[in-house]
Amino acid sequence: MNARVDLIGLAIVSADDAIADARGDMPDGLRNEADWGHFQTELDRADITLLGRIGHERHPNTKQRRRLVVSSSARALEVRPDGWWWNPAECGWDEVTARLMPRGGRVAVPGGRRVFDLCLALGYCEFHLSRATHCHLPGGVKLFTACASKPAEALLAEAGLQPRPLEWLDEAAGVSFSLWRRPAASPLT
Ligand SMILES: NC(=O)c1ccc[n+]([C@@H]2O[C@H](COP(=O)([O-])OP(=O)(O)OC[C@H]3O[C@@H](n4cnc5c(N)ncnc54)[C@H](OP(=O)(O)O)[C@@H]3O)[C@@H](O)[C@H]2O)c1
Repeated sequence: MNARVDLIGLAIVSADDAIADARGDMPDGLRNEADWGHFQTELDRADITLLGRIGHERHPNTKQRRRLVVSSSARALEVRPDGWWWNPAECGWDEVTARLMPRGGRVAVPGGRRVFDLCLALGYCEFHLSRATHCHLPGGVKLFTACASKPAEALLAEAGLQPRPLEWLDEAAGVSFSLWRRPAASPLT
């Protein structure tokens, strides 16, 4: 049996559950210093960052964190000079974790949408959901594909996560935060 690996989702969404605008870009309305600080802390706590190919290319890995990049161009699970690359169609998550995290650990998941979808199916241990309540992004890229018909919170609840009380990350800017956690498992530290 594989050692325990915790998937930790990290996202900031608009009032209408979008992670990006209708062009696929992240607007200023979704950028917040307090959220960025929380995000960086969580990436630092993780053993590996699991992210989509576009996010990987857009955000240089200045801190040299260990990255696992999801892409259809990867041959199963392969190591490249800039990190591990994974094609989920060619290699299962159990094989990935057995090779990259044989002793288990914490995986930070900063998206984007298809990666959030993938990990919703695999099962998050925690989801850190920040919300820019003043920002509306009609036609934007939703957090999960299923947000087209259901709010993000309903999907997290259906996935077995429970919310801690809502708090403000930055009240003046209208950015709230809720930590969703799977009740059965206290997270790895
Ligand atoms: N607000 C937030 O918290 C947040 C979080 C994340 C992203 N964003 C924003 O959202 C926007 C959209 O990001 P994005 O979704 O376009 O980029 P992304 O997730 O970083 O990259 C998408 C790429 O990842 C690969 N991929 C993802 N899932 C895959 C799967 N299951 N199988 C195979 N390949 C897979 C594909 O690469 P190949 O084309 O190589 O196959 C796909 O084109 C960006 O503006 C970004 O800044 C916001």
